[in-house]
Amino acid sequence: MDKSLGAYDIADLCGLARRRLPKGVFEFFDRGNGDEQALIENRAALERIKLAPHALVDTSRRSQEITLFGQRHGMPIAVAPTGSAGLAWHEGEIALARAAAAAGIPFTLATGSMTSLERVAEQAGGTLWFQIYMWPDRSLSHRLVERAKAAGYQALVVTVDTPVPPGREYNLRNGMTVPFRFTRRNVSDVLVHPRWLTGVLMRYLLTTGMPRYENYPSGMQSRITAAPMGRSMMVSDSLTWDDLRVLRKLWPQALMVKGILHARDAVLAADCGADGVIVSNHGGRAVDSTRAPIEVLPEVVDAAGKRLAVLVDSGFRRGADVVKALALGAKAVLIGRATLYGVAVAGQEGAARAIEIYRDEIDRLLALIGCPGVAHLGRDYLAAPAGMDAGA
Ligand SMILES: Cc1cc2nc3c(=O)[nH]c(=O)nc-3n(C[C@H](O)[C@H](O)[C@H](O)COP(=O)(O)O)c2cc1C
Repeated sequence: MDKSLGAYDIADLCGLARRRLPKGVFEFFDRGNGDEQALIENRAALERIKLAPHALVDTSRRSQEITLFGQRHGMPIAVAPTGSAGLAWHEGEIALARAAAAAGIPFTLATGSMTSLERVAEQAGGTLWFQIYMWPDRSLSHRLVERAKAAGYQALVVTVDTPVPPGREYNLRNGMTVPFRFTRRNVSDVLVHPRWLTGVLMRYLLTTGMPRYENYPSGMQSRITAAPMGRSMMVSDSLTWDDLRVLRKLWPQALMVKGILHARDAVLAADCGADGVIVSNHGGRAVDSTRAPIEVLPEVVDAAGKRLAVLVDSGFRRGADVVKALALGAKAVLIGRATLYGVAVAGQEGAARAIEIYRDEIDRLLALIGCPGVAHLGRDYLAAPAGMDAGA
């Protein structure tokens, strides 16, 4: 197989991942929440935005470099935190982190990873961010923050859009519950995907046992065959801005709040001393009826963009989507599913292929719209909707 892996865009990688993974695992990665209205709207909102090319601009030395929290990165994207990425590939988190490091972009490790944060830091290198879900017992979360600090993570991403585990009925239908129960349906699903059975599940079973949440405190390190504290996902529904202020005191480096969907909340995050916000609806996996993050983005940039870095995610599948976000003032875009598809197809190589697809698409598009580099992107590269002032 050539280096393209037979995938020429992210949709191709998605199709390959669909074939490789058991249906239950694929749907867990790919789908949204409820009736998947947010998932559909994320794409539709990106597609509604049109570009406005500039003619006759020398673009022969195009650059995708950005600076974020004082660090230079090779491209304007970062790998988003995706819990259970270790089900895509054996130690999938390490594969993802290595691909990100090789491309010079940040990798965000999720609290709910199947490889411990220390092991990822040892094995991967590059710029590592750590995503935290605050647990009901804050002292346990604060200890996790200390571990991330000691392991050398450079930014803390606090996710605030999931105070309770979302519904996602398809996981129940597919038998993808935590506690994981073998049912006739999911066993036959796994048996008809022998490459996943032998390459992923068996490798865990023969080495470390059933995949489990390795960052959880010992004693709660739930194997996915056991219930973590009676809940499928340890999250807290009592989080407030006071918790963010405490985290600000504990974490000296870059602090980002993920899951912002209103300019008011970005201002409050800045008031608490956050260095960044990630405008996100969790890739359509939390509230099923929200505006698309790309639509909220300019409001957040206008309200708080001078006080903190504004990043965005949810639904970005093309280089053009990334270019649109940067033109609207985002500093970078987080990519969730696309790199997950890649890692499911071919581990590190597959994740690298996903990143390369974005790089090629962004590069070509910069030339096509007459933009010498991502630092030059602004609202004047976007066509104003009918009746609106261009470049406003
Ligand atoms: C399988 C999966 C697991 C995820 N787990 C987490 C998580 O543990 N923490 C978090 O903050 N976001 C999580 N997310 C959301 C992503 O960080 C990101 O917001 C979203 O995937 C972006 O949308 P995209 O997949 O369309 O790129 C997850 C997303 C997926 C697809």
